[in-house]
Amino acid sequence: MSKLKLAIQKSGRLHDDSMALLKAIGISINNGKDQLKASARNFPLEVFYLRNSDIPQYLKDGVVDAAIIGENVLFEKARELPIAVKLGFSKCRVSLAVPKSSTITSINDLDGKRIATSYPNTTNTFLKKAGISASLHRINGSVEIAPNIGLADAICDIVSSGSTLFKNNLRELDVLFRSEAVLARSPEMNEEIAGYFSRFLFRIKSVLKGRQSKYVLLNAPNDKIDAICKILPGMNSPTILPLAKSGWSSLHSVINKNEFWEIIDELKANGAEGILVCPIENMIT
Ligand code: PRP
Repeated sequence: MSKLKLAIQKSGRLHDDSMALLKAIGISINNGKDQLKASARNFPLEVFYLRNSDIPQYLKDGVVDAAIIGENVLFEKARELPIAVKLGFSKCRVSLAVPKSSTITSINDLDGKRIATSYPNTTNTFLKKAGISASLHRINGSVEIAPNIGLADAICDIVSSGSTLFKNNLRELDVLFRSEAVLARSPEMNEEIAGYFSRFLFRIKSVLKGRQSKYVLLNAPNDKIDAICKILPGMNSPTILPLAKSGWSSLHSVINKNEFWEIIDELKANGAEGILVCPIENMIT
């Protein structure tokens, strides 16, 4: 029987969250330590643990069908590959940076300058768009050291917390690209694999939707129910159940995580009491 082949980062910033996502969608992996390939026990899935920078090529060559990968790496190496869904973790940005003491203050000042980067295609794309011509030095790691050793006037690299820039006395000049982990897919899948992929994607979307939402339960006097219902968007309409205490009801609904505090304030102002807010594991719509 064929299986969906999924690449994930062998080690590095995406690895743990990728494994946690597989667990959250109910997939358990037979994971021998140091194994490069492992099968899922309860889903037609094979996981390949690969080096981040190699994953786009494996996807392009059809060695794997899908991958959990940073959008920054995909944009750099295989931007033609389709993204099935953005996963909301491992957020970072690809930025230009210069020494704190540099006279360079904008991207326009980079004309004729030397830029060290492990993202040459991304850097080129944005410089070209800005009409800037600079000479790029491709480096695979420790890019931030380049200006300090006189190799470059600027760098282009990923920034997450900003601490590497800070430690190397660099200042962020411009953000070229904002990135997060994505599920990328090979453009070519046979019908059987496409079916597995669609089940896999459905589970991921359900978990992501759950993470974006909260389940709210509250009590309210019956004469406040109309006003409270107007505040609660819910998937359809809130569930309303009578309480043992006469004249009171319990309302249940789902709200967006980002609107959470505003909605709670409004609910309180409209007579809601005993408000409980719970996380949602999965949201099947
Ligand atoms: C990346 C990048 C920076 C650092 C930025 O390296 O190359 O050095 O992270 O993160 P920060 O803003 O939180 O300091 P990573 O640790 O991913 O390893 P790499 O050198 O293999 O890219």
